Amino acid sequence: MVKAHIAPSILACDFTQLGSQCQHAHSSGADWLHLDVMDGHFVPNISLGFPVIQSLRNLIPKGSGVFFDCHMMVSNPEQWVEDLGKIKVDQFTFHYESTKDPLALIELIKKNGMKVGVALKPKTSAEVVDALGDLVDMVLVMTVEPGFGGQSFMPEMMPKVEYIRNKFNHLNLQVDGGVGLGTIDAAADAGANVIVAGTAIFNAEDQEKVINVLKQKVND
Ligand code: DX5
Ligand code: ZN
Repeated sequence: MVKAHIAPSILACDFTQLGSQCQHAHSSGADWLHLDVMDGHFVPNISLGFPVIQSLRNLIPKGSGVFFDCHMMVSNPEQWVEDLGKIKVDQFTFHYESTKDPLALIELIKKNGMKVGVALKPKTSAEVVDALGDLVDMVLVMTVEPGFGGQSFMPEMMPKVEYIRNKFNHLNLQVDGGVGLGTIDAAADAGANVIVAGTAIFNAEDQEKVINVLKQKVND
C-alpha cells in the first residue's frame, strides 16, 4: 500500500514568517511542503515564484528530508523546469490543461532531475491519466478550482480519485483544496495518499495533532 504524505500548502502561511512557519510544519510531522506557483494567467491569482522557492530550499536543504512539491499553476510550465531542477526541487507538478505536449514535458522534468506530477482541474476527466499513469510519479486531483486557498472541498471529485487508484495501485495520488479534518475521510476512503492542506494546517492551534490525524486516516 502507498504511504501517507502530508503536504502543507504554504499559500496559507503568513508570508512575513514563511521560513519559520515551514520549519514548524516540518517539525510537527509534515514530510512534504506544497509550493503553489500561480502566474495570474493560468489561474486568476498571483502567488510566489522562483526566488521564494530558492530561498526556502536554501533554508531547508534537500538533505533535511523535506520533499519540495511544486504545484505549477502556470501557462507554459516548460519555461520553469530547468530553473527549478537546478535548485533541487523534488517534484514538478504541471497541469494537464497547461501544455500541448504532456509526454515531452514529462521527459523534460525527468531529465532535469525531478519527479513528475500531473494535475487535473475539476472539469478534466480522470481518463486522461490512462495514458500517463505509468510515466509519472504522482497524479493530483484538484478538489477545488485552482487559484485560491480556503475554498470548499468538492466531494464529487472522489469518483475520479477512485478511478485512478483502481487503475494505478502504486501511484502517489494527491488531493488538493479544502482538505482538513472534516473531509479527510472521503479523500482517504477514495484512495488518496498525499494530502495537501493549507488552512487546515496553518490555521490550526495544534498543527502536530492535525497532521497526525490526517496521516492516520490515510494509513488506517
Ligand atoms: C489552490 C491551491 C491549494 C490551496 C489549498 O489552488 O492549489 O494548494 O492552497 O489550500 P486549502 O487547503 O486552504 O484549500
Ligand atoms: Zn496546490
